Amino acid sequence: MNETPFSIEFQPIGIRLLCTEPVTLLDAARQAGIQLHSTCGGKGTCGKCALTILEGGGSPLTRNEEIFRKGGILKPDERLACEIIVQSDTKVFIPPTSFEKAQVLQTEGEFKQITVASPIHIEELHLRQPDLAHPLSDQHNISQAHAQLNFENDDTALKVLRNAATIIRTGNWEAFAVCNHDHIFHILKEQPKLKVGVAVDIGSTKIACYLLNLANGNTLAVEGVPNPQIAYGEDIMTRLSFAMQGSSSQKHLHDLTMDAINQAISELCSRSGISSESSMDFCLVGNTAMHHFLLDLPSRSLATSPFTPVVDQELYITASEIGLKGMPGSKAFIPGPIAGFVGSDHLAFLFSEEFGKTGAIRLGIDIGTNTEIALQKGQRIVSCSTASGPAFEGAHIRFGMRAAPGAIEHVRITGDGKVKCDVIGEKPARGICGSGILDIISEMKRTGILNKRGRLDLNHPGVHLGEEKVRYFPLIAADKEQREISISQKDIDQILLAKGAIRSGISILMDHLQVKSEDIEEIIIAGAFGSYLNPYHAIQIGMLPEIDLSRIRAVGNAAGSGAKMMLLSETARLEASDLAHRIEHLELNTYPDFDMFFVHGIRF
Ligand code: FES
Repeated sequence: MNETPFSIEFQPIGIRLLCTEPVTLLDAARQAGIQLHSTCGGKGTCGKCALTILEGGGSPLTRNEEIFRKGGILKPDERLACEIIVQSDTKVFIPPTSFEKAQVLQTEGEFKQITVASPIHIEELHLRQPDLAHPLSDQHNISQAHAQLNFENDDTALKVLRNAATIIRTGNWEAFAVCNHDHIFHILKEQPKLKVGVAVDIGSTKIACYLLNLANGNTLAVEGVPNPQIAYGEDIMTRLSFAMQGSSSQKHLHDLTMDAINQAISELCSRSGISSESSMDFCLVGNTAMHHFLLDLPSRSLATSPFTPVVDQELYITASEIGLKGMPGSKAFIPGPIAGFVGSDHLAFLFSEEFGKTGAIRLGIDIGTNTEIALQKGQRIVSCSTASGPAFEGAHIRFGMRAAPGAIEHVRITGDGKVKCDVIGEKPARGICGSGILDIISEMKRTGILNKRGRLDLNHPGVHLGEEKVRYFPLIAADKEQREISISQKDIDQILLAKGAIRSGISILMDHLQVKSEDIEEIIIAGAFGSYLNPYHAIQIGMLPEIDLSRIRAVGNAAGSGAKMMLLSETARLEASDLAHRIEHLELNTYPDFDMFFVHGIRF
C-alpha cells in the first residue's frame, strides 16, 4: 500500500483531492464530489467517463480503452476514468461531455440597452436572365441589380460569385444579397429568417458566447464553455510558455480556442433553429494573451519585458481568416488590447460601464488570475494589471475550487462560535471558492481566530495542528456524504498574497491620481468572483478601500456586455475605440515605492 499522500487535480473546475492509496479516477472524482457519466457503473464498457491526463501517469492502457480508441469513442489522448488507476500526483481535464451535470459558467452581465446600428443589411436582387442579345455575366448582373452595392475587393467577389452562380439560377434570377455597408459578402436564395451576429468574451477560464438579433438587439441564446487552453496551464504565463515552444504550440492554442468557440456557436444556432453558419457579424474580446492566441499571433513579446503586444489597434477581419464558423464573407470586429496585460475584455468592461462619460471618480476591477484595475478621475482614466494569481479561483488552496455547484461561497461564524456555510447549488460541499475563503478570513479576523499578523491563533479551541505542524481551522466536518473541508495557514498566506497584489494596484492608482478612499464615488467589480464576493468582507480584510457598501456594485460578465454592445452598433465601436485611446496604462513595477505599497497591501 502506498502511504505517501498524493494529489489529484480535476480541471476545468479546479477541485483537488488528497489521496493516500491507489485509486481509479472515477472513484477519486466521486470522492471529490464530481459526478461523471458512468452508464456502465464503472465496468469500462460504456465509454462515457473519458478524460485527459494532463500531468502524471497512471496504470497502462487497458483492453477496454484500446477498443474504445480503435472505435473512435476515445480520442488518442483520452483515458477511461474507471479504468485508469493513479498513485502519484496527477492532473486531469474532464471534457464537458463527461460531466453528468453541465457545469454552470457565468455569462450574464448587466447589458445596457443601446440603439442598434449594425452595418449588416439584406437586399433583394431582381436579376436579368441573360440571353444571346444580353449575355450578362453574373458579376455584371449583380452589380446592375443594385447600383450602390459592390464587392469589397476581388477576393470577396470571387468567393461570393463562386457560390452565387448556382443560387441565382436555381432561384429563377431572384436572390438576396447579405451586405456589410455597401459590400455584398454573401448571396442567398431565400431571405434569412433572422439577421444574427455573435459576441464572444474569451476568458482564461471560460468562453462566453452570445447569439444576438442584429435587427433589434435581442439576445437569442447564450452559451458558456470552459476554455480548453486550461489544459496548458491555469495562469496566462504558463500558457504563454507553452506557446513559446514553437509555432505549432501557438497554433494548437489557436485551434483549441476556435474549436471551442465554433462548437458554442453551433449550439447557439441549433437552439435558435438556424444553420450553424448563419452569423453575419462577430465581435470578440479577451485578455491580451487570449487576443493573440485567437489571431494566431506570436505571443513571445507578451511574456518578456517590456511585455508589448504585437497588435494594439482594433481589427475588422474576414471571420474565416481565423477559422470562425459564420456566413461566408462575414467579418469579425476585434478591439485591440490596451497593454500587454490589459486586454480588450477590460476595455469592453469599462465601455459597458460608461467609463469616461462623466467625470466621476470611479474604480473598475476585474478580479482573476490577472486582475485589471482602472481608476477614473475627471477626464483621466488610468489602468493597470496585477498578478493576483489563481488563489481566488481555488488554486493552491487545499480545498479550493472555482465558483461552481458544490462550492462554499459564503461563510459566517455565529455568536456561539459555529461555522455556517452557504454552498452554491446542492450540498454536500465539494470545496471552497474565492468568495468563501475571503469571508472566512474576514470572520476569523473579527472573532480573533486570526491575529493581526494573519496567523491562526493556536490558543483558540477551533484551531488545530495538522501535517507538518501546519495550523488549520475546520469549516465542515466529514460525514458519510461529506468530506472534511478546512482552511489552513498555508491557504491564508496564499490569499493574503493575492489580496495584497490587488490592494497594492488599487493604492498605486489612487496615489497616482491623488484620490483618497472617501473621494471614490463608486467601485464596480466585474467577473464571476465579483458576483459572489461580499464587499463588507473585502473591505474588512483590506482588499478594497473603505467606502460605503452602497457604492460598491458587482456587474457580472461586463466584458461580454461590452462585446455585445460593440457587435450591435458601429457607433459603440467608435466610442469604444475612442475610450481605448484615452486609457493610460500604468506599469506598477516601475512605480516609485512599489514594494512599500505591496507590503501595505498584504497587511490586514
Ligand atoms: S464508467 Fe463506463 S466506461 Fe467508465
